[in-house]
Amino acid sequence: MKEIPATQIANTVLEQLGNGGVFLCTADEEQRNVMTIGWGGVTRFCNELCFLAPVRASRHTFGILKRNPNFTVSVPLHAMRAELAFAGSKSGRDVNKFEGHGITAAPAQAVNVPIVAECELHIECEPVASAEMPSRQVEAAMLERWYPTRDMHTYFIGKIVRCYYTDDAR
Ligand SMILES: Cc1cc2nc3c(=O)[nH]c(=O)nc-3n(C[C@H](O)[C@H](O)[C@H](O)COP(=O)(O)O)c2cc1C
Repeated sequence: MKEIPATQIANTVLEQLGNGGVFLCTADEEQRNVMTIGWGGVTRFCNELCFLAPVRASRHTFGILKRNPNFTVSVPLHAMRAELAFAGSKSGRDVNKFEGHGITAAPAQAVNVPIVAECELHIECEPVASAEMPSRQVEAAMLERWYPTRDMHTYFIGKIVRCYYTDDAR
């Protein structure tokens, strides 16, 4: 385990967000869950280094985040396309995504939410704020392109409390 300032991995995260996505883990008293996100990233808010995770209201993750707003982000630094596609297409409502699909839950350092053991880079977050994006505030063309069913995102903003590599090579 090697801690790294989040400022130094912001671009790496941004690139992976656009290259198959990253894993967003959540947990409540009932269940641990993982989904793929492709938007958001490391940002600065309330003068803290934060991670902004945009989650649509329809996601199972959304309900879990409402109950426990801690979350982790695990970033694969090797090809995990199939696993990202799986976590990004199946719902934790129907399947335990941590069982039998190459996505293993491991304990985080500081929050009560797992990380993905197969990934090399991890970000742990405690809640700062969340904000719903109302459809009336989205430009018309973007609204039709990205929100045809008006399944809007809520932005979950978490303060980065740990950021680290778990592989020995770094
Ligand atoms: C590459 C990729 C990026 C995605 N990005 C997001 C995202 O940023 N926000 C979101 O709400 N859903 C996103 N999704 C869709 C969710 O990962 C997907 O709906 C998932 O099945 C939700 O899981 P859950 O119901 O267990 O929460 C993405 C999917 C893929 C494949």
